Amino acid sequence: MGEVDWNELQNNLEATIPVYDRINRFATVGQVSRWRRMVADRLPKEGKILEIGSGPGSFAEIVEGRDLVCLDPIPSMIAAAEPRVNSKRRGRGDSEASFVKGEAEALPFDDSTFDGVCSLFSFRDWYDKRKGLSEALRVLKPGGSIVIVDPAKINRLHGWLGKMYMQIWVGSYARWVCGVQDHPWKWLTKTYVHFGTTRDYVKMLEEVGFKDVSSKVIFPGMATIWQAKA
Ligand SMILES: C[S@@+](CC[C@H](N)C(=O)[O-])C[C@H]1O[C@@H](n2cnc3c(N)ncnc32)[C@H](O)[C@@H]1O
Repeated sequence: MGEVDWNELQNNLEATIPVYDRINRFATVGQVSRWRRMVADRLPKEGKILEIGSGPGSFAEIVEGRDLVCLDPIPSMIAAAEPRVNSKRRGRGDSEASFVKGEAEALPFDDSTFDGVCSLFSFRDWYDKRKGLSEALRVLKPGGSIVIVDPAKINRLHGWLGKMYMQIWVGSYARWVCGVQDHPWKWLTKTYVHFGTTRDYVKMLEEVGFKDVSSKVIFPGMATIWQAKA
């Protein structure tokens, strides 16, 4: 992704912050909370967890009983997430999460720092997915887990149907909620179209050196979950 594209994506992502959870619930017909819970359950039950692309904190706020580091390249995402996540954590008696500005492709952490790394609805945006996965492997302790969720395609026809669904159905709702023609969810269709199949990323995880790679389509066209060990 070139610099112009990244700036455009960043502006679009920032514009989603106020309506992010509402549109996500609609787009996933209410399933998104269940998928977030699946990721939380698959991560190690203790130790240090990194979420890459934590956005406004919609997943981070449900991670209980573990040390948590949230990474995102967009400062306004961090500004929205930090009070939300840490007030939940204080309320539960968990240690405060730390928030770091950065990108998947150049993680600002030492080797073997984390017991678990996760990424939800962000992997699709990484401009160099192979580099990002290698970085995730580097910062994981040996035997640590990675869990990723994003909407992969099953095949080309399925990709086309998914594109129509996002353009017409999610797009109409986003236009209505945002009250503008030029709503930021348009970008979702763009990143979706360029995203590969479930199998493509199983292969990529194996190629960068992850072990015990598995995947499951949890909702065709909307969510695949990938899991692997360092
Ligand atoms: C749609 S939000 C996901 C929010 C949250 N993870 C959730 O569960 O809803 C995607 C986030 O990924 C971030 N992102 C985009 N490109 C990234 C990259 N190369 N490295 C890390 N994060 C990235 C964006 O800034 C955005 O905040």
